[in-house]
Amino acid sequence: MEYRNEEVAKAAESLRRKLQSLEDKRAILRDPALAALYDRIKTLPAGQVRAGFGQEVNALKEELLQLAADGQRPAETKLQPIDVTAPFDVNIAPPDRPKPLPAENGTVHPLMTELGEVLDIFYRMGFSAVDSREIDDDYHMFTSLNFPPDHPARDEYDTFVTDDGLIAPAHTSIMQNRVMKRYKKDLEAGKGIRVVIPGRVFRNEDLDARHEHTFYQLEGVYVDEGINAGNLVATIRAWLSNYFGKEVKIKIQPFYFPFTEPSFEFAASCPFCDEKGCNVCSYTGWIELGGCGMIHPNVLKEAGIDAKKYSGFAWGFGIDRLVMLKYNIEDVRHFESANLKFLRQFK
Ligand code: DAH
Repeated sequence: MEYRNEEVAKAAESLRRKLQSLEDKRAILRDPALAALYDRIKTLPAGQVRAGFGQEVNALKEELLQLAADGQRPAETKLQPIDVTAPFDVNIAPPDRPKPLPAENGTVHPLMTELGEVLDIFYRMGFSAVDSREIDDDYHMFTSLNFPPDHPARDEYDTFVTDDGLIAPAHTSIMQNRVMKRYKKDLEAGKGIRVVIPGRVFRNEDLDARHEHTFYQLEGVYVDEGINAGNLVATIRAWLSNYFGKEVKIKIQPFYFPFTEPSFEFAASCPFCDEKGCNVCSYTGWIELGGCGMIHPNVLKEAGIDAKKYSGFAWGFGIDRLVMLKYNIEDVRHFESANLKFLRQFK
């Protein structure tokens, strides 16, 4: 922009030069040279001269504003990156940060409350708990569990895999090999392995009221000398009777899992109708809860355990299913929906 008034033209030139060296470009608008030009306006004789000068000074200010705005843009990239997962902008100074919401507004998720109850029962039965994990590899998901390569049973566990071959676990059985290796020394010292493993699991499912891509399981592993399927049934019956606060019966029927032999599906007698049939058990009198079986010798061996001397059982059941039963929840998708109307019922 060319300025006709010499004074303005000169000031414009020096202000443009100054602007280049400024970190905060908008500071140019507070420069004394610009203020001096505005002061000059008042000293000029009213009329054409003053008006013409005033217009040029205003035009210069517009020009500087524009230059400052243009110049500011690249500087923005120097700002601290924002952590979009943080509850507030971590670049905000501590005194200005938003205050956390009062804790009374939040509640424990119903799945976690119920899981806590289930774990308490197992602690009283002498089990310890080990957390599962949410990313794993092919070895723990399949190989360590006696799935031969390319075996069709792998298709039962269609889940999510990264380009690097990492797997979102489809079941908590991924932990069997780890816990057996971890507690092998105790076993050999005469202390049986008794572990429960809660965890979040992931499946590539067609979603409906009974199927969700993300849900929770509780795995159980029990290894000692002379363990048989009777011990398995007794253990499951004891914890379910404890959980529902009344004696329940257990029904097992043959099934197939590569990591157990024999394998079973287990169901409990419906604690709400005592097998008479009601809407909770779909009028069958029984509630299917999960899979179980005697740990396959290959799985024991893979963990370095002498399968001739020791035997054991394992099970896995869905925690979501159990909580749905207890509270008569009609749709599994509520759990992961973050729907406050649903969650506040469990306050
Ligand atoms: N992992 C199985 C599933 O998610 C459930 C299961 C069956 C776990 C038998 C076990 C077991 O530990 O022994 O379908």
